[in-house]
Amino acid sequence: MGNRALNKPADQTTVLVTGGAGFIGSHTVVELLDRGYDVVVVDDLSNSSQEALERVRALTGTQADGQRGRLTFYKESILDAQALEQVFERHPVDVIIHFAGFKAVGESVQKPLEYYWNNVAGTLALCDVARRHGCKNLVFSSSATVYGEPEFVPITESCPKHTPTNPYGQTKSMLEQILTDLYVGDDEWNVVLLRYFNPIGAHVSGTIGEDPEGIPNNLLPYVAQVAVGKLERVGVFGDDYPTPDGTGVRDYIHVVDLARGHVAALDWMAGRVGTGEALGLGSLAGQPAVDGTRRGVGIFNLGTGKGSSVLDVIHAFERACGHEIPYQVMPRRAGDVAENYAACEKARDELGWVAEYDLDRMCEDSWRWQSQNPNGYRG
Ligand code: UD1
Repeated sequence: MGNRALNKPADQTTVLVTGGAGFIGSHTVVELLDRGYDVVVVDDLSNSSQEALERVRALTGTQADGQRGRLTFYKESILDAQALEQVFERHPVDVIIHFAGFKAVGESVQKPLEYYWNNVAGTLALCDVARRHGCKNLVFSSSATVYGEPEFVPITESCPKHTPTNPYGQTKSMLEQILTDLYVGDDEWNVVLLRYFNPIGAHVSGTIGEDPEGIPNNLLPYVAQVAVGKLERVGVFGDDYPTPDGTGVRDYIHVVDLARGHVAALDWMAGRVGTGEALGLGSLAGQPAVDGTRRGVGIFNLGTGKGSSVLDVIHAFERACGHEIPYQVMPRRAGDVAENYAACEKARDELGWVAEYDLDRMCEDSWRWQSQNPNGYRG
């Protein structure tokens, strides 16, 4: 059947972005459109808003659907193989960036069937339709959660994986294995697994950002809602960890840096950057094929390499918003690790990508988004 060649200019390359209306997806679509890629978004809007894509259009100057270098949107679920079939019939998809998935840790414990079904079965449906249309190039949205309690920090990509403590994390880990097995069974596959650390921040315009439904589970959106007066105070989950100030340490990364990491991954998949030496699978792994398309499974951490504590985040946000943020120390949250941050050398050396923005900048951009859109996309 073959696999689509990637050695062509961005304006002749069609990228299917699943989950493209979500937080990381929408920021990635902006970077892709800025580079001239033709973008097709499939998103069922189950945890995102079409308004995000309208704002992406306004930001990038893209207006109409269905033209080169343009953005086309389909409100469809990746579980709907027939709908996907139509998308692939209409668009010559060269490469997929696959974000679509449920992502709330606590909810995944309550709704394991929904999480495994949507995330795992959805990805299987997507890969099956894609391969039948000759597209075996895929970037997968993975997570540092696959390292579980990390054996060492900074965490390198060869740090052993540990069983995640919740179904959400399990789906990420399982899908990494499934996508690796696709390559083992058919060496035309060209897969990149991107393990994100903690994405925060927003586009500098303040027009797109993270818009969680209900009370946020993650630290940054919670802090932002306290800052804007929607919530009373931040609960700090534990101050007795073996870390400098006792609170949990994470590697926060600006969502725009993360988005650019995906664009770098596309260059790498096309053999435009890197040597492929970072790949470990099989003799063909990572070698640019004759047509300028790698084969194999590339695994990269996307982080900054710098750890920040919960209190560091609260204080950086106070500087950004100009007033104090009340907080209260609470018991530890089940399943949390003391400290995790990335080793970023592999992404630097192979993808030619490094994160640019620091924690202050992440909080400034997050504050701009939050203060201009206190109710997110709901107006
Ligand atoms: C969490 C998930 C991770 C997922 C990621 C997606 C868990 C155990 N892990 O990462 O699998 O990939 O979100 O974004 O849920 N904190 C507070 N108060 C709060 C919220 C968080 O003190 O109200 C602390 C946490 O204890 C942690 C840090 O802030 O030390 C970051 O927490 P969070 O933003 O939820 O991210 P992770 O737990 O690292």
